[in-house]
Amino acid sequence: MNSTTTEITNENIVISKNNKKKVFIETYGCQMNFADSEVVLSILKNNQYQKCESAIESDLILINTCSIREKAELNIRKKLNAYKKLKNKNKVKIGVLGCMAERLKTKFLEEEKIVDLVVGPDSYRDIPNLLNKVDSNEKAINVKLSKFETYEKIIPERINSNKVSAFVSITRGCDNMCTFCVVPFTRGRERSRDPKSILNEIHLLEKKGFKEVTLLGQNVDSYIWYGGGLKKDYSKASPLQKKTSLKFNNLLEIIAKDKPRMRIRFSTSNPQDMSDEVIEVIAKYQNICKHIHLPVQSGSDKILKKMNRLHTREEYLNLVDKIKNKIPNCSISHDIITGFPSENDVDHLDTLNLMESVKYDYGYMFKYSERPGTMAQKKFIDNVPLEIKNIRLNEIILKQKKHSLLRNQQFLNKTVCVLIEKESKKSDRFWSGRTTQNSVVVFPKKNFSLGNFVDVRIENCTSATLIGNGLRISKDI
Ligand code: 5AD
Ligand code: SF4
Repeated sequence: MNSTTTEITNENIVISKNNKKKVFIETYGCQMNFADSEVVLSILKNNQYQKCESAIESDLILINTCSIREKAELNIRKKLNAYKKLKNKNKVKIGVLGCMAERLKTKFLEEEKIVDLVVGPDSYRDIPNLLNKVDSNEKAINVKLSKFETYEKIIPERINSNKVSAFVSITRGCDNMCTFCVVPFTRGRERSRDPKSILNEIHLLEKKGFKEVTLLGQNVDSYIWYGGGLKKDYSKASPLQKKTSLKFNNLLEIIAKDKPRMRIRFSTSNPQDMSDEVIEVIAKYQNICKHIHLPVQSGSDKILKKMNRLHTREEYLNLVDKIKNKIPNCSISHDIITGFPSENDVDHLDTLNLMESVKYDYGYMFKYSERPGTMAQKKFIDNVPLEIKNIRLNEIILKQKKHSLLRNQQFLNKTVCVLIEKESKKSDRFWSGRTTQNSVVVFPKKNFSLGNFVDVRIENCTSATLIGNGLRISKDI
């Protein structure tokens, strides 16, 4: 299946013009995983692979996996089984990357004979070497976690080629140890990326015409650069390192000043790490988007404590008040888990009641899923029956829909600035883009183009989408 074209030279020597192998990569899970897949493609591109759009035509299938909930893992296993037939027919190689690779390690190679290589989130630089091992029938596995790897000098191969918006990873791993979460185990300790390499990547994106970056990390607000190393080692840094260290607010400000015509987003913010300085810098710069993804997980202090969340309900609500006071037009979104061990009706009402106080713009809502190896699995019994989890989840989703509609209705008959990102899925006569608050807007294409900032008058809305009419190219961003 190599796409090899040949050419006869004067000396009748046959030279291969393109003997690149084809790699198909499929990504599950969070934005970090999507960003990682772009790093993997970049590494493979430098090693004679080119990306292709379907598994059937590929020489190598890579599945970048997610372990966050059991359902995600089950879906990935189904997909692997579907590729089994292809493997028998086409002799394609199959690799499992990411969080499941780390979690299940050799199990994939030993039990699921379809998998040829297993690579954890910090070992992607080793993929070319591991592929050589596959060729010589050796065990190809590397799931070592690193204290330093941030892939900082690798310029990701952009998969989403809309050339408007890109992810830029700024931290890896997580030190928070929420009791329900596998991430600290699958992605390792928290470390921050060298700001020079972040700025360089954003600069290259701007040169290519990108208009927006989303700074990514499990916990962006705890970004700290003092010359390298883990966040936890900061206490051991020298006085000079500490004096010259860079925090998330500093990083945001440097990027905002350096790239005044680019929009800057970031995700995810942990409530306990969001400083006043970060809020001030968001308020100060027009090009830093007025949206904060601020997972709360539960509205009950009892459950928050059992989750080892490092904030109380009151502290969270105070933070929301502070944000709304300093940045009145800021949207706030959430993650909520329902049915955590021992959650009762009162705890559930606390969550509904907290939602009522905040009136989130949107959110991601999940049933608790027990994950092997986590503190919650070791210490608590998953004792909320599935039917109850389902009922509570539905109530939370219904409430969120009501609030999302309410928030969207605030924009009716107003003019908002929209960055055009793609064609609307529903009609090729409409553009789709987002406001600074991250609200999705669709409007007729007229003469506007991809990547334009457009003033759009909002005429209608659903709980998920604003519908409007483009007036002019915007002076804002
Ligand atoms: N069960 C359900 N949801 C989970 N999340 C993380 N771990 C679990 C789990 N075990 C959710 C949290 C987190 C989001 C990324 O996924 O809400 O913020
Ligand atoms: Fe998981 Fe908590 Fe870290 Fe988020 S902050 S990745 S939920 S441990």
